[in-house]
Amino acid sequence: MPQLKSFTREEVKRHANEDDLWIIIDTEVYDMSRFVDMHPGGAFPILEYAGKDATEAFYGLHRQEVLTKYNRYKIGTIEGEKPKIEFRQPGALSKVPYAEPNAWQGFKSPYFKESHYKFRTAVRVIMDGLAEEAREFEVSGERPSDEFQQKMGSHGLLAANIGPGKFLKEFNIQLPGGIAPEEYDYFHEMIVHQEARWGTRGLDDGLIGGMTISLPTVLNFGRPALKQKIVPEVLAGRKRIALAITEPYVGSDVANLKTTAKLTPDGKHYIVNGVKKWITTGHWADYFSTAVRTEKGISMLLIERSEGLETKPIKTSYSPSAGTAYITYENVKVPVENLLGKEGGGFQVIMSNFNHERWVMLAGATMGGRLAVEECFKWAMQRKVFNKRLIDQPVIRNKLAKMIASVESVHSWVENLTYQMCNMTYMEQALKLAGPLALCKYQTTRMLHDVSDDACQIFGGRAITKTGMGRNIETLQRTYKFTSILGGSEEIMADLGVRQAMKNFPKDARL
Ligand SMILES: Cc1cc2nc3c(=O)[nH]c(=O)nc-3n(C[C@H](O)[C@H](O)[C@H](O)COP(=O)(O)OP(=O)(O)OC[C@H]3O[C@@H](n4cnc5c(N)ncnc54)[C@H](O)[C@@H]3O)c2cc1C
Ligand code: HEM
Repeated sequence: MPQLKSFTREEVKRHANEDDLWIIIDTEVYDMSRFVDMHPGGAFPILEYAGKDATEAFYGLHRQEVLTKYNRYKIGTIEGEKPKIEFRQPGALSKVPYAEPNAWQGFKSPYFKESHYKFRTAVRVIMDGLAEEAREFEVSGERPSDEFQQKMGSHGLLAANIGPGKFLKEFNIQLPGGIAPEEYDYFHEMIVHQEARWGTRGLDDGLIGGMTISLPTVLNFGRPALKQKIVPEVLAGRKRIALAITEPYVGSDVANLKTTAKLTPDGKHYIVNGVKKWITTGHWADYFSTAVRTEKGISMLLIERSEGLETKPIKTSYSPSAGTAYITYENVKVPVENLLGKEGGGFQVIMSNFNHERWVMLAGATMGGRLAVEECFKWAMQRKVFNKRLIDQPVIRNKLAKMIASVESVHSWVENLTYQMCNMTYMEQALKLAGPLALCKYQTTRMLHDVSDDACQIFGGRAITKTGMGRNIETLQRTYKFTSILGGSEEIMADLGVRQAMKNFPKDARL
């Protein structure tokens, strides 16, 4: 970057032709002479501002990050003037109302302690530092590199996504912010899921999604030797793991799955045959926690990528960096030691995983809705149409009100359920929380549906544009449906929630 100098506005005015073209953006002076012909928006719009202050025009068309990316063109600042627009520093909180959970914006909270605030700061600094690289994978659709996966591992972020548990100490995990493993609770974990603010839904799932829903099956049901082999390498980011339950023939009705595992005559191996579909992270996974049918019923097997197991990518509305795969198993030989839980006990393994999986989605989805609120609020304040800001239209304010109210309502419910998880035994959670978590998931994905719809209307054409101002809204409208299908679809969640409540319905209650 050239040495930054100080200029007067008069001096800038003298650089106003195509070969010598300076502009001012919020007291900073940019030399556009070499860039004007390469400018993605064309030379014409920039020429109009040659030698002038282009702040308002710039912010009406570009995200702030454009200035960071192209800061090589910055040559100086305007003498004696201070910038009026704040640059969000890595790790900093947004000051836009409702853009952060209210605990981070100075409101009182019964849930968060000092260690949560410390943890959140540390996680955001790390995540901000990795954001640019993350977006590159999302856009290119490539597999998140080994280096990137390992960076997440070395920061303790892969383990942090799995949640609290003895394994943190057992595998000597260093958590962000120096949080002690025994201190780590579901509120810390909620923070990790909510700090995934990169706007890279495909990459997030390719990097963490498959692991978060599959590694617990090994941690909770794997034999000690299997755990010792797999858990450290997955948490360090050296190996990847996916959960393979759904098949082309069965989704919601897991009990009907067709993939078989037959014991060899010597009883030492299973031979697995079948197919699986929509397996997140699957295309690059090394291990597959797989639901199979054995002689004793549904069972779970940890299957290593080996002869006979093939994956191919499924084209979805995701970025391909999610690694969504179709898997074929043809006479795959699996040691019996890789059985997770008991033979015939697969349903218990699957179900025990579901509460946590759904809660993870709730945490991530509320942040998705909140990010849309922030983007829409900023956009409505800066976009001018018919010579007025969008926010000056009552209809737009009404849409924002609806968005904010629905995100805040769901967020409060998620916090309350998180509190229950922190204070219930595992058994109590299984008994009491399956229903409320299912209903909260239903409500959260309905919220995302409405928020995405309103956000699209507020952003107009930019809501369907993958780069630029509306990119986060485009991602949301393209991907929010995933959450309403995977991990139990909306209809199934609504039904489960009410059926669970019916079990506790008092026999003597009458109107
Ligand atoms: C983005 C994405 C990622 C995924 N990742 C994984 C993964 O990593 N591993 C994995 O194993 N699977 C994964 N899945 C698969 C997912 O779990 C299934 O899509 C889900 O279980 C629903 O199954 P299905 O799509 O076959 O729908 P179906 O079961 O065929 O249902 C179709 C529709 O009918 C409705 N329906 C079904 N039964 C009822 C009923 N009794 N009452 C009322 N309505 C009903 C459903 O709600 C749904 O809307 C993923 C799916 C998606 C979209
Ligand atoms: C430092 C100065 C500038 C840089 C680095 C810059 C860079 C960019 C980039 C990267 C894009 C593509 C955005 C995307 O779609 O992701 C873009 C688009 C555009 N820019 Fe600039 N720009 C600058 C200044 C200006 C100015 C002063 C104007 C004048 C109004 C302008 C007008 C436009 C327009 C009209 C587009 C197209 C927007 C759209 O597709 O909706 N740019 N610019």
